[in-house]
Amino acid sequence: MAEQLSQTDAASAADPFEDFNRAQGQGSIRDPYARFDELRRRGPVVKIEPADLTGGQSLPQGGSHQTLRAALPDIYSALSFEAVSEVLRDGRRFSSKSYSFTMGPVMGHSILEMDEPEHSRYRSLLQMAFTKRALERWEHDVVRPVVEGLIDRFRGRGRADLVRELTFPFPVSVIARMIGLPAEDHADFHRWAIELISVGFDFPRGLAASKKLRELFARVLAERRSEPREDLISVLAHAELDGTRLDDEAIFAFLRLLAPAGAETTYRSSSNLLFGLLSHPDQLEALRRDRSLTDAAIEEGLRWEPPLTGIVRMTVADTELCGVPVPAGSMIHVNLAAANRDPSRWERPEAFDIHRPARQHMAFAFGAHRCLGMHLARMETRVVLDALLDGLPGLRLDPEARDVHVTGLIFRSPLALPVAFEPGA
Ligand code: HEM
Repeated sequence: MAEQLSQTDAASAADPFEDFNRAQGQGSIRDPYARFDELRRRGPVVKIEPADLTGGQSLPQGGSHQTLRAALPDIYSALSFEAVSEVLRDGRRFSSKSYSFTMGPVMGHSILEMDEPEHSRYRSLLQMAFTKRALERWEHDVVRPVVEGLIDRFRGRGRADLVRELTFPFPVSVIARMIGLPAEDHADFHRWAIELISVGFDFPRGLAASKKLRELFARVLAERRSEPREDLISVLAHAELDGTRLDDEAIFAFLRLLAPAGAETTYRSSSNLLFGLLSHPDQLEALRRDRSLTDAAIEEGLRWEPPLTGIVRMTVADTELCGVPVPAGSMIHVNLAAANRDPSRWERPEAFDIHRPARQHMAFAFGAHRCLGMHLARMETRVVLDALLDGLPGLRLDPEARDVHVTGLIFRSPLALPVAFEPGA
């Protein structure tokens, strides 16, 4: 099966995993939850400092930076499940347009930064690419071959690092194939996707990657307009609703968004779930014996350690949130991770427990902008779990591994998942 993966899938000549971690540039924050709990105890909505969003790193001192701080809006954090629901339910009071300043310059005008009614018009068109039928086809033709192909590379070894060798490379390979990019472009796509995400730390590099991705998509889009295939770019090229079609720039913005939205989150969420299971061998064993627990395990992984801890909104007029007055023009940090561990909703919220009763969590957000790829992400994670449990007997954390843990503030996942298993053929 391994030969089904193109040689270029391993991505750029440089180590893409190292590149990626550098691009993220987020220090190593092992446990932000103690701080989230402390803030939530003060109230469901509290005013916070920018340092709370950067892990305690204050803005540097000095004239221009003080001016910068003064220019920043007030920041309020929504921390309880109820406060997070209230923000995400009401896009009229809590607008998504602040993304147009932070991500817009590299993504283009994507649905992420749109408010209603524009948002739902575009979302309905884009949703056409994510049908049940398309999901079934992707599972069979794309996700399984990619996952099995990667596992085949280390199956005989009896040891592996599941992050570097499986969870990091698989979602970006899946997205590249789903979009319909030619195999010879996959490595470039992977590298530019990483550079695009680096925009917060290296703006010119992010912008250059955005342009290169546009050229790549434009080439493939032109081909698919004249000769459609069964891929996402062909669906987008021909999607039509009430006489409206997506123009090219809207398609490019959406495809650019898929790189971080589809690849990074899924890599991290599947790593976090595997960490939860491997560090709780009794629950791993329960799942191995009873696969009907798979969906519950996936949801618990997402609740316990969501890969993306927070998203943002801004207030367009003076308002109140859970009784707290919030002035117009404030930034709302919507703390999905804190909501997912709200003790008024979950017992022992800090514990990973796949046997908990099912309750909606916030890892995929909520409301109009609720993750468009959540069914795909769940399916990808199920395929990974099945392939590992069926294909690697005796899978466990490598007994020699020390201090494996989840890390990060905005994005969270383990840097490595060293495992051992019975070597297979
Ligand atoms: C476990 C994996 C994933 C998680 C935790 C996740 C999380 C999220 C969250 C929290 C949002 C809301 C952002 C906001 O409103 O500010 C979002 C939106 C979105 N996600 Fe995901 N995502 C995941 C996987 C995917 C995948 C696989 C895709 C597609 C291939 C995808 C595509 C999108 C898109 C297009 C949006 C924008 C939706 C809109 O604005 O209407 N995501 N995701």
